[in-house]
Amino acid sequence: MPIISFASSKGGAGKTTSAIILATELAQGTDVTLIDADPAARLSRWSKLSELPDRINVITSEGERAIQDEISQAAARTTFVLIDLEGSASRLTSFAISESDLVIVPTGDEQQDADEAIETLAQIAMESRARRREIPSAVLFARTNAAVKSKLEKHINAELRAATRVFETELHRRTAFSSLHNAGGGLRQLDPSEVNGIDKAIVNAQAFAAEVVDILEETRHASVA
Ligand SMILES: Nc1ncnc2c1ncn2[C@@H]1O[C@H](COP(=O)(O)OP(=O)(O)OP(=O)(O)O)[C@@H](O)[C@H]1O
Ligand SMILES: [Mg+2]
Repeated sequence: MPIISFASSKGGAGKTTSAIILATELAQGTDVTLIDADPAARLSRWSKLSELPDRINVITSEGERAIQDEISQAAARTTFVLIDLEGSASRLTSFAISESDLVIVPTGDEQQDADEAIETLAQIAMESRARRREIPSAVLFARTNAAVKSKLEKHINAELRAATRVFETELHRRTAFSSLHNAGGGLRQLDPSEVNGIDKAIVNAQAFAAEVVDILEETRHASVA
């Protein structure tokens, strides 16, 4: 069953938030395990803030010696396994990437973000070579403005699109997304009297989840062809 990692060598790129958004969206229809493989444990912290949505399990990884077993056990139990990684290269990161069916690389749309994303893609490519297996990856623009893009942002977007697969959907900078770290749970559990724009955030999250499923289908067909 699909194993999806969130990786970026840059801290604060949006890995944990994007993993929570995807997990809570997928869990509308199926069982999902989230593995917190970041020693900073922000995902585990989120999981304790309120009751978790049905069909979501959160595991705090015991570290590099345990991660492969944790992944295979989770994959045997649930339809999707999502792994939130730390913002730097490590053996743990490398093990998780090598087990993944898709590595999502969140990035902002400044030049430095794009450079970091390309660096992360290079790490994934190294892992692919070491394992003699193509590890599919895709860049996700996260924390971007929902408004019209500047010339520079367009340029950076085009640069990354020329270099690699990029999600059509961007996870825009939205209060509803950042609120998940305060409130816990998913977008549907947020209180509309306290958080603005929940509906738009849900539409954005649904588009992201649908695109993840499409990419998984596409790469699965490519690998059996
Ligand atoms: N789409 C978004 N909209 C609004 N805020 C966001 C979004 N994505 C991330 N954030 C905020 O940005 C901060 C960093 O995001 P997050 O923790 O997801 O990054 P990370 O890549 O997991 O960081 P680290 O490498 O430190 O683990 C958080 O405070 C989060 O609330
Ligand atoms: Mg994180």
